[in-house]
Formats: sequence, C-alpha cells, structure tokens
Amino acid sequence: MESVKTIEELQVQDKRVLIRVDYNVPLNERGEITDDVRIAKSLDTLRYCLERGARVILMSHLGRPKGTPEAKYSLKPAALHLEKLLGKPVSLLGDCVGSEVEKAVQSMKAGDIVMLENLRFHAEETKNDLTFAKKLAGLADVYVNDAFGAAHRAHASTAGVTEFLPSAAGFLLAQELRYLGKAITNPDRPFVTILGGAKVSDKIKLITNLIDKADTILIGGAMAYTFYKVMGIGIGNSKFEPEGVPAAEQALKKAREKNFQLLFPVDRVIAQSIETASQSKVIETDIPDGWSGFDIGPKTVEKYKQVLAGAKTIVWNGPVGLFEFKPFDQGTYELAKFISTLQATKIIGGGDTAAAVRQFGFDKQMSHVSTGGGASLEFLEGTLLPGVTALANKTTVSK
Ligand code: 3PG
Repeated sequence: MESVKTIEELQVQDKRVLIRVDYNVPLNERGEITDDVRIAKSLDTLRYCLERGARVILMSHLGRPKGTPEAKYSLKPAALHLEKLLGKPVSLLGDCVGSEVEKAVQSMKAGDIVMLENLRFHAEETKNDLTFAKKLAGLADVYVNDAFGAAHRAHASTAGVTEFLPSAAGFLLAQELRYLGKAITNPDRPFVTILGGAKVSDKIKLITNLIDKADTILIGGAMAYTFYKVMGIGIGNSKFEPEGVPAAEQALKKAREKNFQLLFPVDRVIAQSIETASQSKVIETDIPDGWSGFDIGPKTVEKYKQVLAGAKTIVWNGPVGLFEFKPFDQGTYELAKFISTLQATKIIGGGDTAAAVRQFGFDKQMSHVSTGGGASLEFLEGTLLPGVTALANKTTVSK
C-alpha cells in the first residue's frame, strides 16, 4: 500500500489551494442533482481550508464531454448546490484555464471559494497533458486531491498537476484509502465479501484478488447465472454472459485449488419478465425455459446471513438482485438490513451497491460507503490508482 501525505501535513494557511473534487454527480432530465453524496463528503476538506483563510479553487469533471464545452455538462448545478451546503457564495468561473480565470483567481480574498468549469471541456485533461496541468497548477500554491471517484484516471487534474505543486490527499480520499486499504492489506478476520452485479468478466480480477485476500466470497446478482451455466445448472432465460465463461471457470478452478469458500445462491426468485414481476416465484432447482432469475431467494439470504454474522470485516461490491424493481429488491434489502446491525467493519463499494444501501436507508449504519464506482473496484482488485500513485511518488512521502 502506498502511503500518501494528507492535507494536515500540507501548509494551507492563507494559501491558494487547488482542490480536485469528484463532483461527477447524477443529474435528472431537469438538470437537478439526484444524489449529492460526493459533494457532501467533500465538505470537511473545504471547511478545513476555508477556516484557515485559504482561497479555495475547486476543479472537477462532470460526465464525458469530448474536449469542448457543452452546456449540459456545466458544473453549475454542483456550484449552486455547494453554495447551499456551505452557506456561502461559490462562483463558477467560465472556464478552467485562461486569462479570465487567472484574473478571477487573483482577485480572491481569504476564505473565498471558486469553482472552475468542467475540466473535460479541454481534451488535454484526459490526455494528462503536462502543459495544461501546469496551467492549472499556476492558479495555486498547493494542490489537494480529494477526488477518490476519479483516482483511477491518470488525468492532468489527478496526476499531472502533482508535478508542479506541493500535493496531498484531502480527508475524503484519505478516508477511502484507510478503509479500503485496511480491508485489502490487513483485514480483521473473518473477512467476508459479497460480490454481485451483472458481469463476471467485469469482476474477474476482483474475484481473483479476493480469493487471495478474503476468507469467504458470497456470490449474487446476474453474474451467478454465468457461474450456474458453467456448473451445469439450468438458467432458463436468465442473463448469461458467454464471454464470462472463461472468467467463471478460472474463478472456480482457483477457489477449488485453494479450498476457498466461494458460495453461490441455493435458491432464486424467478419471473417470466420484469413486467410480470407480480407472478414471480422462488425455486431451488433449475430455472425452466421462459423464466429468468432476478434475485437471490430467502434460503440464500438466511445462509449468507449466517456467514456474515461471524465476520469482522465485510466488503460488499454489487447488488445481489435487480434492486430497482420490487420484489427483486428483497435479497439486497435483507442483506443490507442485516449487515447494518452487525458490529463488524462494514464497507460498501461504491456505484450501485452504495445507491442501493442509501435507497434503503442503511448507509449511516455502515462503517464506510465508498464514493468511487470504478475507483473502488480497481482498488479492491489490487490495481494501483494513478491519482494515488501521483501523490505517493512525491519526495515528501514515506513509502
Ligand atoms: C465516476 O463516476 O466513476 C468517476 O467520476 C469517473 O468518471 P469517468 O468514468 O467518466 O472517468
């Protein structure tokens, strides 16, 4: 594990502080933010700087614009929302580099906060262009990365910029690394993980790494059906990923060789389609033709609860059913509810699992709900994140 300097080790008092946040938040068709967790979780870092008389310059991406400005990807909703949360003006600048931006930053007073417009309006951002990174760095005295959600990207604002400024991790990034890092390097045991989601091929690196690191893996979600197919269990019309077959075979082989506890659902909730969900039923046998599995069944929930009850560390990545549709939310709901009552270190990998746990109202009872989707997946796979490596490679840092 790389160790990075944190914001408390950086001089921010009265400084111009350039902070990379991940305000890539979901927006509805009216352009309203539907989940503000990434913004809310950045407040500790922002307040820490503002209370110390810093001039805070925020930068983020939103969506995937192709290197030119597009109104629908403006960070305006994020700036307006942050204003409300902080209770002070946050002015959104028209761009992220250029003379207008430099002028605006020059005129900032102690305790002011501005937000640069979407970094991805410039193609140089995603290319990690060092000239562009230098322009960003030129706006400030020090750099703080608090964008865990974007730490798996080697971009100018997450990697290149550290070449030019004293750099450190903000409180959110540091917290993510602490929780996920401990789980993957030195977990309190038993260490139990729940892995769900649609595709085995997306999760094979994760499964392989966790077979080395965890004590038990509980499988759920649509990816279970690709495993069933490999095991010769009938899956009817369930989601099946032919390209996932080698991955599933590889995972089963590794688990067998290591005598590892890789557990699969023993029953499933099936229906003929999502539209006929009201006629769903639970079966323990092969799924008949014309029917598809959409959730784990109650016996599996009980079996998984028994395993989870003894765990000291739990990491959950991927819902175990189609939680957006009733009644297929039950498996995910029941496990979330049960985990919320446990004394263990309970870590929810970001993305869909975080959304599900929040939707059910159990997020506050978890030890840590990650703000990273791809970033938490890659971290748990054992991949070094470029945004973290860039901070760790500084001379000021112990390794
Ligand atoms: C995310 O939501 O996973 C991050 O903000 C990264 O976004 P990206 O996948 O467009 O780089």
